[in-house]
Amino acid sequence: MDFATWCASLRESVDRCLQSRFVDAWPPTFQNATLYPLRTGGKRIRPLFSFGAVEGLGATISDDIIHVASSVELVHTYSLVHDDLPCMDDDSERRGKPATHIAFGEGTALLVGDALLTEAFRTLTHTDLPAEVQVRLIHELTEAAGHIGMIGGQAADVGLGGPVTDAESLMKLHQGKTGALIRASNRMGGIAAGASPKQLEALTRYGDAIGLAFQMADDVLDAEEDAGDDGPPSYVKLMGIEETQRRARSLLAEALAAVRSLPHSERLEELARYTIERDH
Ligand code: IPE
Ligand code: IPE
Ligand code: MG
Repeated sequence: MDFATWCASLRESVDRCLQSRFVDAWPPTFQNATLYPLRTGGKRIRPLFSFGAVEGLGATISDDIIHVASSVELVHTYSLVHDDLPCMDDDSERRGKPATHIAFGEGTALLVGDALLTEAFRTLTHTDLPAEVQVRLIHELTEAAGHIGMIGGQAADVGLGGPVTDAESLMKLHQGKTGALIRASNRMGGIAAGASPKQLEALTRYGDAIGLAFQMADDVLDAEEDAGDDGPPSYVKLMGIEETQRRARSLLAEALAAVRSLPHSERLEELARYTIERDH
């Protein structure tokens, strides 16, 4: 199966799983609101990393694995709903469509985020994976989502760590804000598929390198619309576009080297290249 077909068919499986998680949501208007940010597209890159990790180990993608991958996407989607709120980035559009708070109001958007986050953990308990594997997965996602992961990065992003004036502190911010969930998606795929400690270590090194490279690729894509010195700090502003591209390429090489020893690293290699070379 070529890479594009593989991505498209797994995105569909993830979309079905995500939407099925809210069939019992009520009241009905709230159900519509919870489904809204799950139906506005998105690359589903985090679930794809989980799938890449599973296939990398030579395991197959089961319904349980789809649940595991979808749980990370639920946390990611919640983070976007809250990130766009007026008290955060105050963005009225997400993926070219009205942000959730524009479509349903601020209070509802806050609750939608809460519901998506909570549902991520319930989803992880709705698999036939052994109980100890479920607990390990919940532990991974909790660390990645919380104050030592994504939320810590968001706190730095709103300025709580002081001004970001060099590439090293920007990397630290992004290791939390973007990197933690990307690391977790790879590790959780590995854990669900029974990775050995050494294989898990390889997936972690891959996830960490790709997490940073993902943000550098984002900054290069955004470079043209960057709002001069008034906008948020970015790698392009701090290091210039060529150095950012050079570092992204070197992180890509690091990621590829990390997973080369896995039984089937092909999908992870394709995903890594897609992350760096994507056009949106
Ligand atoms: C966007 O993430 C926000 C960041 C974490 C930088 P993605 O680029 O994965 O967004 P979608 O889900 O594809 O829209
Ligand atoms: C998105 O971050 C939210 C998280 C990563 C948690 P950004 O604010 O940098 O990205 P966009 O521009 O809203 O997608
Ligand atoms: Mg934002």
